[in-house]
Amino acid sequence: MKKQEIIDILSDNSKNDWLFKEADQVRRENVGDEVHLRGLIEFSNICKRQCKYCGLRSSNKEIERYRMLKDEILLYAKKAVNMGYQTLVLQSGEDDYYDTDKMIEIIREIKKFDIALTLSIGEKTYDEYKAFKDAGADRYLLRIETTDEELYKNMHPNTSFENRKRCLYDLKSLGYETGTGCLVGLPNQTTDSLANDILFFKELDADMVGIGPFIAHEQTPLAKSPNGDFWLALKVMALTRINLPDINIPATTAMETLNPQGRIIALQSGANVVMPNVTSKEYRAKYEIYPGKICINENPEQCRGCIEGKIISIGRTIATDKGFRKI
Ligand code: SAM
Ligand code: SF4
Ligand code: FES
Repeated sequence: MKKQEIIDILSDNSKNDWLFKEADQVRRENVGDEVHLRGLIEFSNICKRQCKYCGLRSSNKEIERYRMLKDEILLYAKKAVNMGYQTLVLQSGEDDYYDTDKMIEIIREIKKFDIALTLSIGEKTYDEYKAFKDAGADRYLLRIETTDEELYKNMHPNTSFENRKRCLYDLKSLGYETGTGCLVGLPNQTTDSLANDILFFKELDADMVGIGPFIAHEQTPLAKSPNGDFWLALKVMALTRINLPDINIPATTAMETLNPQGRIIALQSGANVVMPNVTSKEYRAKYEIYPGKICINENPEQCRGCIEGKIISIGRTIATDKGFRKI
């Protein structure tokens, strides 16, 4: 699609039903009815950065911090593998405790389970990304968050848009399946910039794109900003499916936080991936990126059963392979 066409659709709600149906159809034709489940391990909520929207930002002193050691991460990994997960996602704040050697050890151990491994641990150097890849990591998630450079600068003190982009192109060049995405509903974000976000996903040839509505967190500078709009986030996601037909697109947790049926609606509007949490209760509430996160009182077995039930209820199936991008 041309940029203006994307902007027109984003600005006009009269064609929403058509858009969601069209994205669902494109999803079915290109990636089929299978839903890929990725088991998510949020292994540290310690972060050195200051993203203005995020509850894990280092200056939030209200949050109780935790960091799992290798053996504990492996314990959750093993449990998830026993539950049938074929992909694990290791996510954290930018926590320098896990230096390259520690990460390599964790990656090598997890890869012994013969599953696909995704990392989502922030901005690193080319050499670090290369070392993780050589150790066996398959995929990496790093949202661009917004392609509006002014807004990016405002939201991310002491970091640069250029470096974020550099990271994504490094990941691509190293052969990672590269996931990116954006937040929808940041203060002063425009439909023009959301259209640019979608064009950026295309330019990068992203293998996976996660779209999440912004949700205001009390202990951040954006505490008083309004939440992003569920339907606008869904439209950005649907347009992403139409413009990048064969990629993997998750139905994000943030969508379900704003709408109790959020992930099912997303799965019927272009999404084909869900990332259930596989850690136990003691950590879930502490990984409070934003308030009201779903699943904080459930255990991994409950989440697995819950999401499987929902997926089957809409006539879809659970994939049994590792779910790489179909090329
Ligand atoms: N630290 C890594 C990074 O930033 O890439 C990974 C963890 S970070 C918590 C994962 C994602 O959470 C970010 O890419 C961001 O889009 C999302 N996020 C953070 N704060 C949020 C908020 N208030 N509302 C919605 N999503 C948020
Ligand atoms: Fe840290 Fe990621 Fe949150 Fe930014 S979005 S403060 S890098 S955890
Ligand atoms: Fe966690 Fe439904 S997926 S309770």
